[in-house]
Amino acid sequence: MTEVIALKQARAERQLSYNEDHVRWLMDAVLHNQFLPRPDPDSIFVGDGDFQAVGSEFLGHFIRMGGLRPDSRVLDIGCGIGRMAVPLTQYIDGKTGSYCGIDPVAGGINWCQRMVSPAYPNFEFRQIDIAHSLYNPKGEINGLELELPYDSRQFDFIIMTSVVTHLPDEEVTAYLREVERLLAPGGRLFMTAFVVDKSAQDNASNKRDARLGFQRYDEGPCWFVPEMPPLAAVGFDDGFLDNALTRAGLSIVTKSLGHWRGLPADHYQDAFVAEYREDSR
Ligand SMILES: C[S@@+](CC[C@H](N)C(=O)[O-])C[C@H]1O[C@@H](n2cnc3c(N)ncnc32)[C@H](O)[C@@H]1O
Repeated sequence: MTEVIALKQARAERQLSYNEDHVRWLMDAVLHNQFLPRPDPDSIFVGDGDFQAVGSEFLGHFIRMGGLRPDSRVLDIGCGIGRMAVPLTQYIDGKTGSYCGIDPVAGGINWCQRMVSPAYPNFEFRQIDIAHSLYNPKGEINGLELELPYDSRQFDFIIMTSVVTHLPDEEVTAYLREVERLLAPGGRLFMTAFVVDKSAQDNASNKRDARLGFQRYDEGPCWFVPEMPPLAAVGFDDGFLDNALTRAGLSIVTKSLGHWRGLPADHYQDAFVAEYREDSR
């Protein structure tokens, strides 16, 4: 690397507050670490793909796209069976950072409590009995009335990966209100979704993930896949999530379209990063 390029990279990294070489090394270390806990394949209910590879990939997105820092106080809404938590153990600082994961599925939370928290006491997991027709059909808490058991403004980074892809629009709106309440000034939400824009509706191109032939439901904004139960995969009208984030009082920092629609991208689902700013209302 020439001196000029090295200088430029160092300057860019200071602004971004991460070191690209370190992120690459970290992702690789997470991907190949045989000692990180990994659930039994039969107990993984959070989607296909290699558990450790998806986790390593997202650790990179959280740092590069989201601005996650080792001292961040993280809340992972819909943490499943620790796919994001396990790689985060290798990045979040044991003294200054913290992680809370919540999910309605008791099996996932129990696994994380047994396999992660004993070695990483700043990682805690809670089962919250939120009803969901597929994940927790007997749940007692209505997602529309949900108030998460945390004080306001106590998180710097909130994760919702592959969660609003399973929620109806009213519940997304309710969650975003909670996210706004919980984020500290400058804190960020990292959320993935399926945005059904023109390119995603383009059936002719044949490049889109063939499993996701979304059809608009009613007047919108939700799109479902006819061959699947409605909440197995939910897409939203382009603009719905942007407006919902803004109405909740969050400023969109990044909207990055994913390659599920057949266009090139370094992530599959669409990704939003949104920030709580004290002056954003
Ligand atoms: C596809 S999985 C993704 C899990 C995790 N975020 C990941 O990326 O590995 C969807 C998760 O959302 C959780 N979930 C479903 N309804 C929820 C709700 N109302 N609130 C929070 N989590 C929910 C499910 O239990 C499941 O763990």
